[in-house]
Amino acid sequence: MANEHILLVDDSEIILFKLKAALTRLGYVVTALSNPLVALDWLKATENNADLIISDVNMPEMIGFEFVRALRLIPARAHTPVMMLTSKTEIEDKIAGLQAGADDYLGKNVTATELNLRVSALLSRSKGSEGTLIETGAKTITVFSLRGGVGTTSISVNLAISLAQLWDIDVGLWDMNLNSGHCGLFLNIKAKQTPVVLNKFSDANIEEHLIAELLLKHDAGIKLMPAPDSAAEAELVTPATVDMIWPYMQSHFPYLVIDAGNHLTEPVLNILERSDIILLAVSPELASIKSACDALDIFDRMGLDLEKVVPVINNTIAENHLPTTKIIPVLRNRPIFEIPYDCAGFVQAILTGKPLVTTAPKSEAGMAIVTMAYRLSTKSMSGVKKARVSPLLETVRKKLGVAS
Ligand SMILES: Nc1ncnc2c1ncn2[C@@H]1O[C@H](COP(=O)(O)OP(=O)(O)OP(=O)(O)O)[C@@H](O)[C@H]1O
Ligand SMILES: [Mg+2]
Repeated sequence: MANEHILLVDDSEIILFKLKAALTRLGYVVTALSNPLVALDWLKATENNADLIISDVNMPEMIGFEFVRALRLIPARAHTPVMMLTSKTEIEDKIAGLQAGADDYLGKNVTATELNLRVSALLSRSKGSEGTLIETGAKTITVFSLRGGVGTTSISVNLAISLAQLWDIDVGLWDMNLNSGHCGLFLNIKAKQTPVVLNKFSDANIEEHLIAELLLKHDAGIKLMPAPDSAAEAELVTPATVDMIWPYMQSHFPYLVIDAGNHLTEPVLNILERSDIILLAVSPELASIKSACDALDIFDRMGLDLEKVVPVINNTIAENHLPTTKIIPVLRNRPIFEIPYDCAGFVQAILTGKPLVTTAPKSEAGMAIVTMAYRLSTKSMSGVKKARVSPLLETVRKKLGVAS
């Protein structure tokens, strides 16, 4: 960290003074300039070194977004990390800044601790470091998004199969996309009856075999609790239905993966509250990123522990996507997983009813999901003695350079 050079640009001498003092105390070398036009000249001079630029948004000579656009045109500064310093925290402003080429945002009333964390995180990201390695002891992993079509079903189905095949266990998969559940379609299995039949029972008189009979077995090691047959039946799955099914799914599988779809209904809220991990599916385009931010805000207001929310950037689009490094700050700098674009692989999987990780686990997208499964589960599986190491486990360990 020490001796990294930060250029500060703000028309307020007070802010410049305060931030320069805080950053200097943290060990950074700081150049503070109050005029963005002067700062552009400073950045054009090759003898000046800046590892990070922190710029205000509202400046009389030139607004911050224009300043960022202009500095990106200086070849030597095209990739220098830029943080926008602003009192504006609206998502639209953040997106405008990101489109202009900024990498992160910093509130003007930032504390010294947060300043330290954010600056060092951005500096290490820009040096291409791996980011936080996610290791959880999760048992129930729910995949959700407020926007449809971003891959909650693709992620859920492939994640459940990956967990089953990595550890050679049975994994529960629960289709809670009540309006349009597609897990059965993706797995080429059809339900004879759905959880709606449980409505004639109550928590008190439900018997285990009634729930077991609803489960559909798939050869890849998963048992699927199907969604209702049609959108018309969606409302028939209530929080009471969830209460009846939850204990069985919890006690019969080491892992439970839930496709919660994209509607925040009461039963889905129930599930989100009880899950150990919420994978928030995000496609790298503005509307999806906005929906993901909305979801984080709602979770926050609900009092959900945001530590259990992990965004999964699923590259469902081939072109014009926003780069991951720019999406991370908008999503509150949460550690993320990422799945690469693989249209042919995922479409073929749906057409044949054979999920990607069963046919191409070593493809880039397949490996991304298998690695995600491994990272989500290693902690809870580390104490489990296994007679046989699955080929998939061997592959992922080799890829990550982890000893068996
Ligand atoms: N990484 C990816 N690369 C390319 N295409 C993908 C990727 N992930 C998913 N897709 C495709 O995106 C489409 C939507 O995926 P999926 O059905 O899993 O999303 P969803 O969020 O469950 O949608 P819905 O709102 O209908 O439930 C599918 O055609 C799928 O093949
Ligand atoms: Mg779906």
